[in-house]
Amino acid sequence: MTQRIFRELGPEDFDRVFAIANLAYPPYGDRKEKRETYIRNALATRSSGTFHGCFDPDGSLAGFMEVYEFEANLRGALTRAGGLGFVAADPVKKRRGIASDLINRFLELCRQKQYPLAVLYPFNIGFYRKKGFSCTARMHQFRLKPAALPDFGRRDGVVFIGADEKENLTQCFRTYFERTNGMLMKRALDIDNLFGRHIIAAYKNQGVIEGYLAFNFQKTRPDLEHSDDMAVAEWVCNTREAFAQLCSFLSTQSDQIHRLIVNTPDDHLYLAALDPENGEHGAFKNMIHEIYVTAADSMSRIVDVRRAFEAVKDRPFGNAGFTLRLIVAGAAPGEADEDITVTFAGGMAAEDDGARADVEVHTDISGFTALFCGSASFDELYRMRCAEISDEAFVGAVTDVFRCADRPKTITYF
Ligand SMILES: CC(C)(COP(=O)(O)OP(=O)(O)OC[C@H]1O[C@@H](n2cnc3c(N)ncnc32)[C@H](O)[C@@H]1OP(=O)(O)O)[C@@H](O)C(=O)NCCC(=O)NCCS
Repeated sequence: MTQRIFRELGPEDFDRVFAIANLAYPPYGDRKEKRETYIRNALATRSSGTFHGCFDPDGSLAGFMEVYEFEANLRGALTRAGGLGFVAADPVKKRRGIASDLINRFLELCRQKQYPLAVLYPFNIGFYRKKGFSCTARMHQFRLKPAALPDFGRRDGVVFIGADEKENLTQCFRTYFERTNGMLMKRALDIDNLFGRHIIAAYKNQGVIEGYLAFNFQKTRPDLEHSDDMAVAEWVCNTREAFAQLCSFLSTQSDQIHRLIVNTPDDHLYLAALDPENGEHGAFKNMIHEIYVTAADSMSRIVDVRRAFEAVKDRPFGNAGFTLRLIVAGAAPGEADEDITVTFAGGMAAEDDGARADVEVHTDISGFTALFCGSASFDELYRMRCAEISDEAFVGAVTDVFRCADRPKTITYF
């Protein structure tokens, strides 16, 4: 087993990082210049995150990753999460466990920083699942005809906004973030990217942005002029009026727009559309109408089970009252088990090590993450054989205490 060395990278490592980055993520168009600026800034000023290198014993850079810090919403509590991105291995050294070592190091860094949660976008779901992550968030893609959305008759508050409204839009997103389980707060550079890459239509009420659509036009076919779809990357609403006015705005684009391609973590959008069909009929027999497709979005992992309970100590935990011993495989450093006893009483959860448990649950850290973050209920995990329980009569009670009103949603990309 190769013993690799890790260290934070700095400006002196630019040439080696840039060379591997361009082999791992081949740049097209003007991407190479943009990437050069990005990496130089990130190495010198940590403008987005910190780069960490993995070195072979001969001193050569074998791979690297970028580690970010986010404000995160965990079951409605505001906490911090480590984010992982830009994972790359030297192409001549692939398949020798560099990515695996980097992820282990990332988890160590998250523990050192005392983050209860780690988040990433997976290149390979199975690999990260083995590392304890779970597909907590989903992204749905609707392809709606604009006229399928209702026109509520009012859209006088909808305006196009530019970069001078960054502060205002950040406030709007913060409200959304604080109310949305799983959401990561956008950093200043994420807000810059939102403005740099999209047209933004916002609903403003007395100067306050209560919702927005970030979109681009997209040709329906490369050879056709003036035949466009509208690709909506983000649709955020903090009020019903914001939803109504932005919906009306979209509905009234039907003369110009063929389909609204809406990416959203909210699968309830179909409720608003008279006919949410997406134009595809082939997935099932009998001309059944497809309404959206779903992708795994970010994956999460609870980094520290005790710290996770601590982070949400003021949040509600159902109605049932009992003491639970939780044994979570692979949750502690070195992939050891975590063994924790928690008492649920009066709708709250409190660590209660030493107390006599009424019931014992065994799961792995990926299953526990799904349960704790609210992406799967205990009865679902139990049915899928992702968890075991010492007394089946408690399945309902365990399901009740961990239930979250909403499954996690993220729209902050990194
Ligand atoms: C993806 C990448 C980082 C993997 O690095 P690596 O050092 O070769 O990975 P490891 O040897 O640690 O293997 C990690 C896992 O990924 C899997 N994997 C690696 N390369 C793979 C490939 N080409 N196709 C499918 N799975 C692959 C391995 O099987 C392993 O999973 P396992 O433990 O379930 O077997 C590297 O190939 C790379 O830089 N690729 C280009 C950039 C990229 O896609 N980065 C990830 C984006 S987040």
